[in-house]
Amino acid sequence: MGWIDKTILASQITPKAVFENRRTLIKAAAAGSFGAALAPWFSRQALAASPDKLSATLNPAYSAKDEVTPYKYVTTYNNFYEFGTDKSDPAANAGSLITRPWTISVEGLVKKPVTLDIDALLKLAPMEERIYRMRCVEGWSMVIPWDGYPLSKLIGHVEPLGSAKYVEFISLADRKQMPGLRSNIIDWPYREGLRMDEAMNSLTLLTFGLYGEVLPKQNGAPVRIVVPWKYGFKSAKSIVKIRFTEEMPKTSWSQFDSREYGFYSNVNPQVDHPRWSQATERRIGDPKGMFAPKIKTQLFNGYAEQVASMYAGMDLKKYY
Ligand code: MTE
Repeated sequence: MGWIDKTILASQITPKAVFENRRTLIKAAAAGSFGAALAPWFSRQALAASPDKLSATLNPAYSAKDEVTPYKYVTTYNNFYEFGTDKSDPAANAGSLITRPWTISVEGLVKKPVTLDIDALLKLAPMEERIYRMRCVEGWSMVIPWDGYPLSKLIGHVEPLGSAKYVEFISLADRKQMPGLRSNIIDWPYREGLRMDEAMNSLTLLTFGLYGEVLPKQNGAPVRIVVPWKYGFKSAKSIVKIRFTEEMPKTSWSQFDSREYGFYSNVNPQVDHPRWSQATERRIGDPKGMFAPKIKTQLFNGYAEQVASMYAGMDLKKYY
């Protein structure tokens, strides 16, 4: 995919008021001018939001035309069980996550295993901004401007062996920084995995930021995966290890309940989750709230053109 010269960040094509409002909040938080009137969770969240800019060029080839979800929802309605199981917990609690120094080890069936410092990883390839539709298995969705580069760039760097069939992603698990680890709902660390061709697909993004700024901690700072044709839980956050394997890796949610969460977890309106219909979805941030008309969920979340060929001949009801 070619690079475009024009530097347009999604921030420039997003309703301006949303941005101005957020900037005012961040500035006010930094200056300590919130006063005592604000709810503590609110000021904590505002402080956790990092105003550090990332320089990324919008790639229109991967930019959904849907209206983007306002920053405030993207950063306050999260799943990050290491910080609690309520949607508001990560924004309230992730302030304790230390994102620098941070190293990520890339190992397993590769010619050139490497341990990279986050700053070296950031510089490995040019940063792009891509607007992706994201859909959660629970039935809600968002449209998010992510900043990163294709995971394939890092994979090319370590030269996988022919025997490498899968890639495993392992998140940080540190009890000191992550209060949610006290609960054993998941067998920590959080793990996810992709088949090699899925990991190499140009849509799979190694992600460092959103909305042109470094990832807020609640969104998986300092580095996460984003896989837009799969349910949100495939997108592991705060990754410390990437491992190439011959065997299909065990993933956190399929270990939790293999009847509910399969390894592939491709967005598919025809394959219902035992507890949730996958036929329609609710866009977070729609001003009509619960009364907003439901949107029809698309096969592979609307990315069939780029990904369907990888699953040709596979029974998607069996391999869900
Ligand atoms: N990664 C880790 N380490 N821990 C988690 O609990 N939750 C997953 C995924 N990655 C999760 C994770 C789920 S269920 C979703 S829906 C997405 O992160 C949410 O990402 P977001 O909060 O940035 O929208």
